[in-house]
Amino acid sequence: MKSHDLKHNSATGHVTGRSVYVNDMESGPGQLVARVVYSKHAHARINDIDVAKAAGVPGIAAIITAKDIPGKNQMGPVVHDEPCLAEGEVSFAGQAVVLIAAENEEAALEAERLIRIEYLPLDAVLTLRDAIAKNALIAPPRYILSGDAAGAMETAPLKLEGILETGAQEHWYLETQSALAVPGEGREMTVYASSQNPSETQAIVAEVLGIPRNEVEVEVRRMGGAFGGKETQANHVAAWAALLANATGRPVKIHLFRDDDQIMTGKRHRFLSKYRIGYDEEGRILAYEVELNSDAGAATDLSLAILERAMFHAENGYYIPNISITGRAYRTNLPSNTAFRGFGGPQGMAVIENAVDRIARLLKKDAAGIRKLNFYGIDERNQAPYGELILNNRLHVIYERLLISSKYEERRAEIDIFNGRHRWKKRGLALTPVKFGISFTTAFLNQAGALVNIYKDGTIQVNHGGTEMGQGLHTKILGIAAAESGVSARHIKVSSTNTSKVPNTSATAASSGSDLNGMAVKNAIETLKARLKPVACAELIKAGAKDPHHGGIVFAEDAVFTADEPEIRISFPKLVMAAYLAQVSLSATGFYKTPGIHFNRETGRGNPFYYYAYGMAVSEVETDMLTGMYRLLRSDILHDVGDSLNEQIDLGQIEGGFIQGVGWCTTEEIKWDDKGRLLSHSPDTYKIPTAGDIPEVFNVELLRDYPNTGTIRKSKAVGEPPFMLAFSVWLAIKDAISAAGDHRFEPLFSLPATAEVVLLSLEEIRKKTENIP
Ligand code: MTE
Ligand code: MOS
Repeated sequence: MKSHDLKHNSATGHVTGRSVYVNDMESGPGQLVARVVYSKHAHARINDIDVAKAAGVPGIAAIITAKDIPGKNQMGPVVHDEPCLAEGEVSFAGQAVVLIAAENEEAALEAERLIRIEYLPLDAVLTLRDAIAKNALIAPPRYILSGDAAGAMETAPLKLEGILETGAQEHWYLETQSALAVPGEGREMTVYASSQNPSETQAIVAEVLGIPRNEVEVEVRRMGGAFGGKETQANHVAAWAALLANATGRPVKIHLFRDDDQIMTGKRHRFLSKYRIGYDEEGRILAYEVELNSDAGAATDLSLAILERAMFHAENGYYIPNISITGRAYRTNLPSNTAFRGFGGPQGMAVIENAVDRIARLLKKDAAGIRKLNFYGIDERNQAPYGELILNNRLHVIYERLLISSKYEERRAEIDIFNGRHRWKKRGLALTPVKFGISFTTAFLNQAGALVNIYKDGTIQVNHGGTEMGQGLHTKILGIAAAESGVSARHIKVSSTNTSKVPNTSATAASSGSDLNGMAVKNAIETLKARLKPVACAELIKAGAKDPHHGGIVFAEDAVFTADEPEIRISFPKLVMAAYLAQVSLSATGFYKTPGIHFNRETGRGNPFYYYAYGMAVSEVETDMLTGMYRLLRSDILHDVGDSLNEQIDLGQIEGGFIQGVGWCTTEEIKWDDKGRLLSHSPDTYKIPTAGDIPEVFNVELLRDYPNTGTIRKSKAVGEPPFMLAFSVWLAIKDAISAAGDHRFEPLFSLPATAEVVLLSLEEIRKKTENIP
């Protein structure tokens, strides 16, 4: 089996239920369960906390509040504005106030009922509009400016302006936030976490316990989904479990109930964006002014980096010579919003995609053609607003191929005919592109480490800093290790991620898990191969080879040989044993940092991305004019992953990302009541896509024959970019609504386009149509 078609190394475990998650782990007798008691108020003063009665419940091992924290009461990952447990005040409903450790769930729940927290409710900021009105900025505004947006807007022959609201989104990882903390000797603490960022989990656990990081070990076997929701907020449960384990001297597990998880954790940031766009009669964009306003929630978390990525993607794949991008993040009394697949990119892109769609409708032209007209050029019109040159632009080749494979033009004509014949059903079609920057935009985070051990039997253990969340990273790394070492995958094991094996790692995020860790693993294997080569030469000579030299040694097919005499070979296990006897070290670390990336936040200029990933989708929907319901009839996707590291996994990422994006664009609506309490906190009120929402015809292809340069095995990152292909569905729905008025009026629209939004929009179109004689 070639390394790029290895099946997901947990596939069997996942379907048989044998894969181990934190909640499956038992550290032995004495393990306690935990409850997190959280605020029911969005903003309130805490006058008193009385746990006396609760402490008397049989089976209660510890009850902790902020004053019992031995270290710092802090778990803000970047800015320290997030208390681990509320102290004096709560600033969102769902904020942790008291922790309980108990022998069993019943005792914990009983204790929770007996805890009295006396609150004095305070005014709360619950909407973005309110936050904007109060100028409740969480940090100073940010700008990216290029050309002369105001001047070009002034002179543009045509212009339009608007506001777009995009909604929040719940991660809905199948495994809710979980952690198991096991105290060791002295101050030692081991945490089995479900975290995208074990090194940060380690740092925060150390900080709340008031101990150095070398006493804390964090291990992540796998996550049952994360999607950005465990990039920082997995630290919370880990810190709480560690505090309780420290207080009791016993292992403590936290596994949040689904509803609690949804109530307590942050979501994708809501945005309210305002824009003006200037263009000419052909549809060429001349100027764009956009203000991106995000709802950060009660604390900073990753909001500024997410806002920054929204700004970096405000122009998506379009060359806009005069542009002004403003980013503002506001503080509200809601759980702190956090990373979610696309990391702000979708929120930034939605605005321009909708604006381009409006331009096309006003000009009575097909939107796909307007998009193509504005794509970044190949050797000209190729500078991004922040100054980076867009090299190896794949938008044009993807567009040409997808237009043909999806039969775009024929279907556009067929849809017009269908819409002319049907009064109560309308079909819509849309093509949308994605250009997504790959790298952490905080440049120093683009580093990774690995530790590769070869054992005396010739088997290899690969450790790296990336975490497995279902995206197939460990399988990709296995393929890389096999290809680089020449040893078959069945003799290689990719271990759990562990801070004691590979320290100081970055989060597995920004889709760069395989780019960074793959390179680090390759680096470690190269070190080992360099050490093994002299041994290989000696062994090959003993076996009768004429003139093996270091440069000519090939590692392949579980053996070493020279290209000249491939029939004389030493098996890998034999080579390893010879190396061991020759006292050669069989363990090596590897390291990688992405070269040449930088960005200056003051000037808004730099080269923040190592390269870009591209994709495009064409989607067709059918909308029921009476109910606002729609069906996704067909989607065609062509996506660029360079030379795929693993085709099945990449296709899975594209399909999964797309469908998750469709959820955000259509049915996933988060609602709070007027007190800031989450209403949609279970699957009966929050609708994520299911198998039934997959398009009836779904053609997903990888862009062939376009290897990437300078990356691990010429591949490209794939985790997040396909999410934004879902704009094709969102705008196809809008196209169908527009068809109800013969494309004469701009439909009212927002994101998600729920059946309710569609119906209201249709009514509006109907009224306008009736008013026309
Ligand atoms: N795929 C699965 N199955 N589960 C996940 O949690 N997270 C996504 C994406 N694909 C996710 C996923 C997000 S938000 C990111 S950033 C990347 O995977 C992270 O992994 P990578 O860097 O290895 O692609
Ligand atoms: Mo992904 S949102 O970068 O974890």
